[in-house]
Amino acid sequence: MDVISVIRTKRDRGRLTDEQIDWVVGAYTRGDVADEQMSALAMAIFLNGMDRAEIARWTAAMIDSGERMDFSTLSRPTADKHSTGGVGDKITLPLAPLVAACGAAVPQLSGRGLGHTGGTLDKLEAVPGWRADLDNAQMMRTLEDVGAVVCAPGSGLAPADKKLYALRDVTATVECIPLIASSIMSKKIAEGTGSLVLDVKVGSGAFMKDIGAARELARTMVGLGADHGLPTVALLTDMDTPLGLTAGNALEVRESVEVLAGGGPADVVELTLALAREMLDAAGLKDADPAEALADGSAMDAWRRMIAAQGGDPAAALPTARETHVVTARASGVLTRLDALGVGLAAWRLGAGRARKEDPVQAAAGVELHAKPGDSVFAGQALMTLHTDTPERFGYALEALDGAYDVAPAGTPFTAPSIVRERIA
Ligand code: URA
Repeated sequence: MDVISVIRTKRDRGRLTDEQIDWVVGAYTRGDVADEQMSALAMAIFLNGMDRAEIARWTAAMIDSGERMDFSTLSRPTADKHSTGGVGDKITLPLAPLVAACGAAVPQLSGRGLGHTGGTLDKLEAVPGWRADLDNAQMMRTLEDVGAVVCAPGSGLAPADKKLYALRDVTATVECIPLIASSIMSKKIAEGTGSLVLDVKVGSGAFMKDIGAARELARTMVGLGADHGLPTVALLTDMDTPLGLTAGNALEVRESVEVLAGGGPADVVELTLALAREMLDAAGLKDADPAEALADGSAMDAWRRMIAAQGGDPAAALPTARETHVVTARASGVLTRLDALGVGLAAWRLGAGRARKEDPVQAAAGVELHAKPGDSVFAGQALMTLHTDTPERFGYALEALDGAYDVAPAGTPFTAPSIVRERIA
């Protein structure tokens, strides 16, 4: 087998054989295929696609590149959730303890933010003392005792994806359905969760800008789950506008705690409950009532235990930014559009995200929204507050918000799109 013939096959729109796929994924993981060769192959796949059988084999090869975890010794059924990433998407923070409070175990292996979408680990690291790096034994203990753990995947889990994802990120080959589907599902299948709920974001702030592409991605992932005996359900959810009223690490933790305390923005509560119901159904806990667990404080108790189990102090004050800047409405009327991508880029430029994976993030940086589409606003009213420790970033962040919202004359009819747009099982 030689790598040049594998690249040439895909470059010329051919099908990769099972042998070619097994070999190239294994050889790349071992370091026998160079980054520049894998980059060429990733771009050929990006341009020419893979069929269902090729995607299934590629996924299996990525799973086989590392270890598989096993949660079968836990006393609780496992259920996991994966979001394809969006702006203000803090849902894992209230969802994991909520589902744990209802009796499931949630092994939430999460990532860091890159680009305009935030990462769950960066958000939780805003909590003083909290750490993401647990070994497998600590993870199992926390899952059994608390029912929820949010941590970085160990280096043994789908190492082929770890290498390939980092390469795709710097070669403009991320937004590719076969590569996204195999990347996400290889990690979730290797992780060994008993069931999986996917939150496939669609809209300006998501990888998938249109519903057709999001549907295809969801169907591909649900099919891969079925092939590997992992019951998988996908919700297609709106990402044209940011979720909730905050984008940025500590700001999103604060909002998540509000949800766990029984308050918080309606869209965050709605999506948290919709995903919780799917996870509990998939875990066979159909009688559990997540709304009750939010109302009676049991989800908040699970949050406190989850944070403390990973060294965090749930009672500690969250960091606040040294500088703020208020953006005001230029006209009175109805806010009809608030673009998720613009807000995500602004939060990122304020310091909430990173440009290279080794960059630090500012815990307190981000954007706080004071109005959402459908709200009436008046000229001069605060629309958003920008937070950063480095005020020289305000100008660059404001550029991202230029043209990111529309105010229509008062009385203009506005119907908010539903958060959950479709369910694919
Ligand atoms: N998230 C992943 O884990 N992989 C992708 O390819 C895209 C989003």
